[in-house]
Amino acid sequence: MRCLVCPELGPLDTLVLEDRPDLEAGPEQVVVEVRAAGVNYVDGLIAQGRYQMKPPTPYVPGGEIAGVVTAVGDAVTGFAPGDRVLAMTGFGAFAGQVALSPLSLHRLPESLTFAQGAAFIQSYSTALFALTRRSSLTPGEWVLVLGAGGGIGLATIDVAVALGAKVIAAASSPERLAAATAMGAEATIAYESEDLKARAREISGGGVDMVVDPVGGPHAEPALRATRAFGRYCVIGFAAGPIPTVPLNQVLLNNRTVVGVDWGAWAFRDFPANQALLAELLDMVEAGRLHPATPAERPLEHGAAVMAGLLDRTIAGKVVLVP
Ligand SMILES: NC(=O)c1ccc[n+]([C@@H]2O[C@H](COP(=O)([O-])OP(=O)(O)OC[C@H]3O[C@@H](n4cnc5c(N)ncnc54)[C@H](OP(=O)(O)O)[C@@H]3O)[C@@H](O)[C@H]2O)c1
Repeated sequence: MRCLVCPELGPLDTLVLEDRPDLEAGPEQVVVEVRAAGVNYVDGLIAQGRYQMKPPTPYVPGGEIAGVVTAVGDAVTGFAPGDRVLAMTGFGAFAGQVALSPLSLHRLPESLTFAQGAAFIQSYSTALFALTRRSSLTPGEWVLVLGAGGGIGLATIDVAVALGAKVIAAASSPERLAAATAMGAEATIAYESEDLKARAREISGGGVDMVVDPVGGPHAEPALRATRAFGRYCVIGFAAGPIPTVPLNQVLLNNRTVVGVDWGAWAFRDFPANQALLAELLDMVEAGRLHPATPAERPLEHGAAVMAGLLDRTIAGKVVLVP
């Protein structure tokens, strides 16, 4: 099988394609032929050595896949060759095959393509975790989503609309805002050229109930100031680079709440709760309540370029690698 190997943490242009022997299923393993592997912002950070988690090298990057089961170990029940599945892999997704515990596999809903499935788990789990486990969203509330044309942004819009909220999407370009509108946002703000606080307050009639922020940087403080009394501000990530500081008087005023959201660490620590979260999302897909965007498909050899494009903001929306 072919795989994309990171020889050591550092510049992304050192990644190389390698041919490795095909995998065999251990007694408690399932081998999956990878039909698509989702590329996330964090994959590039990890490969560059800029993330808190530093895998021993060489390693194969990539954390989520969708594909078809090709072999199951003797002790495995519940899965058989031919099953369509999706999974978080930890690492190793940018490859033709992965060998996983059946506990990490989920059935890919009929309505999702392999590409949609491979780009689903991280973004949608983070969104539902933020909106329902770390905070609570009531139907009819206004949610301001920053970085709304990115992976977390689009998933958050989809989940928030499914939960009955009204979404204001904020992003940098007309293309990203158009993607957010197509996902169900009611209103948009071009936050590099418009006054984010003033426009969000105006659109929501006085202030938003919740902010979901995977971007940070200069947008954090105006977004916090755009929340109404008892507003919640979910800190998801810092794609803009610098970690923002916010004046704490703005939290005290209006009884606001700032909420940290770290889905990955929680999912690792509380496996059953995360299984329940993902089952809830897959049920929402089956019920036709979620509509994941169709990711762009690129060959495995473009992996480093895609990771770089997400980090330097030249790629918008979800991308999967097709081995
Ligand atoms: N806390 C958690 O549990 C969790 C889980 C998954 C991901 N994350 C984090 O969430 C963040 C976003 O992830 P994502 O998957 O949504 O990434 P993404 O698809 O690349 O989207 C990031 C968005 O950030 C905006 N951005 C603003 N300044 C940027 C800059 N200087 N460079 C790159 N992007 C910039 C871009 O939108 P505009 O151009 O419209 O501004 C872009 O669409 C990352 O930091 C990731 O590590 C956190």
